[in-house]
Amino acid sequence: MYRNFAIVPQIIFGRGCFNQLDDILRAKRSADGFVVFILDDVFKGAPLEGRVPLHDRDRIIHANVDDEPKTTLIDSLVEQIKGYGAGQPDGIVGIGGGSILDIAKAVSLLLTNPGSSADYQGWDIIEIPGIYKVGIPTLSGTGAEISRTAILTGPEKKLGINSDYTLYDQIVLDPELVSGVPKDQWFYTGMDCYIHDVESLAGTFINQFSKAYGEKSLEMCQQVFLEDHDDAADKLMMASYFGGMSIAYSQVGACHALSYGLSYVLGVHHGIGCCIAFDQLEEFYPEGVKEFRQMMEKHQISLPRGLTASLSDDDMELMITTALNLEPLWENCLGGNWRELMPRDRARKLFERM
Ligand SMILES: NC(=O)c1ccc[n+]([C@@H]2O[C@H](COP(=O)([O-])OP(=O)(O)OC[C@H]3O[C@@H](n4cnc5c(N)ncnc54)[C@H](O)[C@@H]3O)[C@@H](O)[C@H]2O)c1
Ligand SMILES: [Fe+2]
Repeated sequence: MYRNFAIVPQIIFGRGCFNQLDDILRAKRSADGFVVFILDDVFKGAPLEGRVPLHDRDRIIHANVDDEPKTTLIDSLVEQIKGYGAGQPDGIVGIGGGSILDIAKAVSLLLTNPGSSADYQGWDIIEIPGIYKVGIPTLSGTGAEISRTAILTGPEKKLGINSDYTLYDQIVLDPELVSGVPKDQWFYTGMDCYIHDVESLAGTFINQFSKAYGEKSLEMCQQVFLEDHDDAADKLMMASYFGGMSIAYSQVGACHALSYGLSYVLGVHHGIGCCIAFDQLEEFYPEGVKEFRQMMEKHQISLPRGLTASLSDDDMELMITTALNLEPLWENCLGGNWRELMPRDRARKLFERM
């Protein structure tokens, strides 16, 4: 069976296109309605905050992403919005990196679907469309702007709310918005995209659809991280989108599976976690890892080491279980007999190197 999948229906791209946000929202505003802007708190008091097209009843929520999004955060934001007593908003607008993009998606869904966001971690559990939602990335690489998931850490697991309803109704891709990102963060999140491409292209699920997007995304990442281009920010923003489109119809692989283990047990963030894992995966992705190291050298990035050195045995077991539970990722990487090829002690050895 082939998957019949939805994508984001409205996209605006270009330097300064953020200025058209008011026009975009106008069509969705009701007479007495309001829009909620969920803004990364890194922009509190910054020029970008002043450019948010606020109308009288609108609200801005400054969300902190020092920790990656938790289901408890989503539930409290939903309560906060309901607490305004103004009914449902006309729209939710997320402005930030992958974390904020996922927070805004989940809040939109939980305003219309009953219960806790933790109830919806999984595949196609959401039954009711969310509030109209707009995603505006300020950091490029995760592909969260185009994906059908909102990744959340819940009481029992780190797992996305995966559904067609999770997709944004509109995305605003303005490469000017990424200008203030610290260099290390720019690199880690950019490598998330590069690794999406490598894992998609090297995987057993590869097909011409994913290859078309993955190859172009990889080429743009190579230009951004190994060459010097004035329009590098534009390239990386489109590479992120294309990388997301590539994995939408294939899958990621070993690196993402292992990084989920690091993240769940040690709280390591997604981009840097992928870099730490990828650096140990020469046996799976020899060309990709070689090129990744060239990119690290060019940008003088050094990764933390010895993360798992003082881990208790229980924590190591939990890390291995978390990683190996991601069955489709391993199947994409190693094929149908992946369980024989990736026994627990092989996964343990990989973690021990990190
Ligand atoms: N939904 C998906 O398909 C998907 C895919 C991959 C990752 N993710 C999720 O995305 C998150 C990671 O996202 P990320 O790597 O984009 O990082 P992030 O959103 O966690 O942000 C990282 C840091 O960069 C800061 N930042 C963002 N934009 C900035 C700017 N323009 N200027 C200065 N600082 C800025 C943030 O405040 C934060 O401190 C994780 O929670 C991960 O689970 C989701
Ligand atoms: Fe990723």
